Formats: sequence, C-alpha cells, structure tokens
Amino acid sequence: MTPANPVRYDRESEIALIEIDNPPVNALSAAVRRGLSDAVAHFATDAGARIAVICCAGRTFIAGADISEFGKPPVEPFLPDVIDAIEASDKPIVAALHGTVLGGGLEVALGAHARVAVPGTRLGLPEVTLGLLPGAGGTQRLPRAVGLEAAIDMVTSGRQIGADEALRMKLIDALADGTDPRAAGIAHARRLLSEGAAGRRLSDVAAPTVDPQVVESWRGKVAKASRGQVAPLRALDTIAEGLALPFAEGVAVERRAFMDLMQTPERAAMIHAFFSERRAAQQDDLKGVTPREVNRIGVIGGGTMGQGIAASALAAGLDVTLIERDTAAAAKAAAGVAAMQDGAVKRGKLSAADRDAMMADRFRAVTDYAALGDADLVIEAVFESMDVKREVFATLDGICRPGAVLATNTSYLDVNEIAAATGRPQDVIGLHFFSPANVMRLMEIVVADRTAPDVVATAFNLAKRMGKIGVRAGVCDGFIGNRIMSAYRAAADHMVLDGASPYQVDRAVADFGFPMGPYQVGDLAGLDIGYANRQRKAATRDPRERVPVLADRLAEGGRLGRKTGRGYYIYDNQSPQGRPDPQMGTMLDGIRAELGITPRDFTDDEIRSRYMAAMVNEGAKILDEGIAARASDIDVVLLHGYGFPRGKGGPMHWADAQGLGTIAADIARYAEDDPYFWQAAPLLARLAESGGRFADLGKDAQ
Ligand code: CAA
Ligand code: NAI
Repeated sequence: MTPANPVRYDRESEIALIEIDNPPVNALSAAVRRGLSDAVAHFATDAGARIAVICCAGRTFIAGADISEFGKPPVEPFLPDVIDAIEASDKPIVAALHGTVLGGGLEVALGAHARVAVPGTRLGLPEVTLGLLPGAGGTQRLPRAVGLEAAIDMVTSGRQIGADEALRMKLIDALADGTDPRAAGIAHARRLLSEGAAGRRLSDVAAPTVDPQVVESWRGKVAKASRGQVAPLRALDTIAEGLALPFAEGVAVERRAFMDLMQTPERAAMIHAFFSERRAAQQDDLKGVTPREVNRIGVIGGGTMGQGIAASALAAGLDVTLIERDTAAAAKAAAGVAAMQDGAVKRGKLSAADRDAMMADRFRAVTDYAALGDADLVIEAVFESMDVKREVFATLDGICRPGAVLATNTSYLDVNEIAAATGRPQDVIGLHFFSPANVMRLMEIVVADRTAPDVVATAFNLAKRMGKIGVRAGVCDGFIGNRIMSAYRAAADHMVLDGASPYQVDRAVADFGFPMGPYQVGDLAGLDIGYANRQRKAATRDPRERVPVLADRLAEGGRLGRKTGRGYYIYDNQSPQGRPDPQMGTMLDGIRAELGITPRDFTDDEIRSRYMAAMVNEGAKILDEGIAARASDIDVVLLHGYGFPRGKGGPMHWADAQGLGTIAADIARYAEDDPYFWQAAPLLARLAESGGRFADLGKDAQ
C-alpha cells in the first residue's frame, strides 16, 4: 500500500482480498473510491481469483462517505459507479463487515453479492441525520433485500441495527463466529465456492410491491418524527417512486433527490452539527496534558440529578458511591437509580445479570461522607444554594484524597465561590449535566479561574466515557445554556406582557422546529425553580429590567406546572399533555392593566424573530466574553440541551445563514421599545458592520 492508495489487493489462493485501510473510520474519500474501483477492475482480470472479499482494516468497515468532502466539487470516480462496478462483477464479491457499517459503507455492502458480519457489527443508513438520503443505490437495493417497510424504517429514521437483527431481516447472509472480519470473509467465500454458489445481485431482485396505503401511513409517522425536516419525507418518496420503476431508473430518481438535498440549508446545518459535536472536545491548551485516572466516583445528593448522574456513571462502568442526608433519602435515591437500570433492561440496553452485578458490586447509597475517602472524582448535586454547596465542598476538602477532582452540578451559581470553600481550588470544576442526566448527552464543563488543566482534561475524558458531549464554558450566571435560555425566555415574557398569549408563543416556537415552546418547557421543569432564582436576584435587579409578572403570579398561586396539575396549561385526565387555561386571557388583561400596558397583536413571525434575536444576541455576548470559545460550541449546547432543531444547525449557524445584518437591524428596531433589554452585543454589531460570520471567528484556532 502506498499512502496514495488506501486499498490493498492480496490473494489467498483463489480468494482475492480487497482491504480498505483509511483511518480513522475508512470513510469513502476520493482515494478510497479510486482504490476500490481499481481493485475491482484488477480482480476481473486476475485469472487465479474466483471470488473476492471486501473488508476493512482498523476499528470499522466503511463508516460512510467522507463527510468533509461534502459541499466541495465532486471528484471521480463517483460512489454509485464504484458500487455498480462491484455489483456488475462476473465473479462473486463478498462484503465482510465489522464495526459500524454506515451510509455509503452499507451501500457498498449492498452492491456486493453476499454479506457476512462479525458479532457486534452495527448497520445503518444515517444520511437523513445529515439532511441527505442514501445516494448510491441504497434506497433501491435495501428494499430489495429486506422488504419495503423495513427499508422505509431504516432509511427515514437513520436508525442503526445490530448484526442479529440484520440477519433476521436478511440484510446480511451470515453472522460469523469470530471477531476477525477478514477471516470471516474468507470463510464465507470458501463456503460459497464449495457450494458452487455465487450470491446475487440485488438490482436483479424483483422490487417489493409498493402499496400506496402503506406509504401514506408511513408519511404520517415520518412527518411527525422528523418535525419539519425535508430529507426523511423526500427519502420516503424516493423509495416509493423508484421501486415502481426499473432499477436503473429508480437509481436515477434517487440521484436527483440526493443532488437536490445536497443544496439545502438543512444539509449544511446538519453537517455543521456533526462536526461541531466533534470539535467541542478539541482543546488546544490541553494537548499533552494527561488526564487524571477516574474509576471511583462519588455523587452527593440523590435527587433528580444525582440519581441520573449515578445511573449514567454506572452504565459507563464506573464505581459509584452516592451520599444522601439520611438513610430514608439514601434508600429512595437507590431505588430511583435501580428503576433507571430496570428501564435500561426493559429497553434491551442492559442484561438483567449485568444490572444485578452492577448494583451489587459497583453501587452503594450511604449517608457517611467518609465513604468518599478513596473517590477519584466527586460530583455534587445538592440543592441549588450557595450556603449548602459551600458546606458540602468544605466537608469534601477534609475527606477526599489529594488529587481527587471535586465537581459541582450547579445550574447557575459561581463556581469560583464554591471552589473558594476548599483549600484546593485547582481541583474544583463545574460539570453541568442536563435532566434527565441518564438520557441527555450534553455536559457543560465549567472551568473556574483556578481549575488545573489536567482537571479540565479529566472532565472531557469523563464526558466521553459516559457517552456525553462535553462543551467547555466559563463562569457566569447560567454558563452558556441557561444564560442564553434566560435571555430568550425574557424576550418571550415581554411579548406575553405586551399582548401575545403564552400559547401563541409556544406554537410559533414549535413551528420553528423546537419540540416544545418555552411555556411548555417551564411547566415541565417546574415554575418554582425560576421563581426562586428571581427572588434570589430581586435585591440587585436593575430597575429597568422588566419582571415576568405572569410567571410570578402563577408560582405564588401554587401553579407550579405539571407537578401541580396547573401552570401555564392545565393538566388532568382530560388533557395529560396540557390544555390552554380559558382564564389566561383574563389574568393577563388584569396584569397588563396594572402595569399600564395597552396590548397589541404579534404575528408568529415577529414572535420567532424576537425569540431568535434574543438567543443570538446573548450567544454573541457569551462569545465575546470568552464564556464560550467558539460559536459552534454554543450551537452544540442549544442542540443537545434545549431542543434546538438540528435541521437549523444551532442558533449561531442559523444566524450566519440569515445574515447578521438582518438580526442586528431587528435588534435596533426592538431597542426602540426597550433599550435596556435589547442592547446589541458589540460582537454582533461589529460582524454585522463588516459582513462577517460567527463561523469565521478564530478560524485558525478551530
Ligand atoms: N467522514 C469524515 N470523517 C468522519 C466520518 C465521515 N463519514 N465519520 C467519522 N469521521 C471522523 C470524525 O470527524 C472524527 O474525526 P476527529 O478524530 O478528527 O474528530 C473521527 O472520524 C472519529 O469519529 P468519532 O469521534 O465520531 O468516533 P466514534 O468511534 O465515536 O464513532 C462513527 C464512529 C460511528 C463512525 C461516527 O463517527 C459516525 O457516526 N460517523 C458518521 C457516519 C455517517 O453519517 N455516515 C454516512 C455518511 S453519508 C453517506 O455515506 C452518503 C453517501 O453515501 C453519499
Ligand atoms: P433535588 O432537590 O431533586 O435533589 C437534591 C438532593 O440533594 C435531595 O435529595 C437532598 O436530600 C440532597 N441533599 C441536600 N443537601 C445535601 C447534603 N448536604 N448532603 C447530601 N445530600 C444532600 O435537586 P436536583 O434537581 O437534583 O438539583 C440538584 C442540583 O443540580 C442543583 O444544583 C441544580 O441546580 C442542578 N441541576 C438541576 C437540573 C434539573 O433540571 N433539575 C439540571 C441541571 C442541574
């Protein structure tokens, strides 16, 4: 193999071995496509070779097209042609699969005449998660292998399936015993030779019948699940339309759809999201810094967050000691953690035996802090009160071994002040998990003034180990996510005071693509949290800041959201998901009259513009202040912590796509009504002036 050719051609007696070696994930770069194409041509003329095996070196079979080439001019040979050449081979070709067989990788496998996988292999067509659809025959070959509905499911959801399911679906022909894909491929090839079998070309297989009713029922499901995204519905149409035509024409339909989707803002946004998630972990200042070893962790406080954090850490293989205030609370927390593991067993993520072993050997909920003497890292998740947190950290300082990392899960509080309660501020950091912590993938890593670099590196390591996306944040009220949320919540509250209804705001925001609007989120989280936060800050509030009087009235009246059956919405047997309160209009009229506000109408567009402008403006302030290092980090936080629609890439990407001048002009207009709230971030003003974009800031550093 030369560096220029990542595809090796070897022979083992009558079996040709075509091995791709393009770390890290054997993506189908131009060089791989060229190498594969040449190897298949060579196989055709290699008289001694009767069958070929395509396999991959390293951790995985081909994980898809090279995403970094998207948006650039395409380079020959094109993938559909390479796959057609594989399928057209007169001599059989076996695909030997391991790792993650994704996108173009699975399409290559579908072009082969037979497929064998080693146990643990995962297969999927994730293109819709990138705003695309399979563009190299996948929408036409897959249904011919697995049937119409199974194919629609895989293509429109992007869902990965395991090797066992793939075998049941007939997506693969055999599941090997061993773990070596090359050996599995050779064994399968030998079997075919000895049986005189040649596998089959999927393009020769008759297409399954397309029942329009089946397609219609899928359309409803897909539209609901994809919430406004273009690609999943286009993929459904492409499958249905293509299968009604001869194979070659079906593939042409697919190609056109693929090319159309390549041009959409949705595709650019989703690929931005993909790379932003990976970029978040890249920290130049941590190069060469060795993280501390973490095996035993402590969790203090076994409420909502403590339980979720403990469950998530256990799932990552860590040893967990949870501390509660008394034995009853400890028992309750342990039961909560156990229930989460039971849920994992039910969903097939964990075996019952592993759960039992995990709970017996690696988990305990106790009341004595002394049990944390040998912990490598402790995460505090007690009440959101500075006094309580400082007391906990002072206690930890006396108990934990030197070098233990001391972390707080605070949502808003000053991590420097918490660190100052110990004699070792260099070991203190914020690890801000999101609720439910065993499900949500975001973790803000809040670096305080004196946090040591190896503690930051340890936090990123822990995030990865727990399957989370760690995003670095600086210390401020609410860090990245909650600070931005406070800003767009305030913009929404102002509109409600000025004439919009909370229901209209929720609807307008949901139409943008968020799963819920701010008032539905508020009811879910509980209105007491925000109320307590406002009370805490009331004494120092600037008199020009508008108070969300409706939110205060609801909380003071015991309407705390779902948990009390009433908040902005009413929750009861009749409407467990909530229905508007018919009294809301009267209540708001009363408040507006008290405040001397003459209500006005808002269009849904204006609601969305103000909501988004507040989000972007606060994001720009956070970036300018260095609370977030890059715009893409802000996007990752909003995507993973706050339901920002992935098809729009995150607020900063969205803002760049709109043009920052437009947003700056909106803000200037809104400032005429409320100059205190609508202060344009200096960075936004500068970029709008120069025609710049958030994405280009510090490009060299990224
Ligand atoms: N193209 C380019 N780079 C890729 C890539 C791809 N398809 N997939 C992964 N990478 C890169 C990542 O950016 C990362 O690079 P850095 O180390 O420089 O950050 C590196 O490979 C490792 O990736 P992960 O950190 O994600 O590693 P992992 O082990 O956690 O996950 C994976 C591996 C499951 C393959 C995951 O990377 C993944 O899901 N990749 C995307 C797969 C995908 O969507 N493929 C379909 C592409 S679309 C397509 O194929 C359309 C078509 O046919 C034309
Ligand atoms: P919670 O009220 O559900 O749980 C707190 C637990 O801490 C209680 O079980 C309590 O008994 C225990 N506790 C209090 N003092 C203790 C002490 N000295 N020693 C041991 N245990 C003690 O609160 P929740 O929601 O779990 O929040 C905890 C922390 O996580 C807070 O700082 C909060 O701001 C933060 N957070 C909360 C999120 C949420 O959505 N609920 C999201 C992210 C962070």
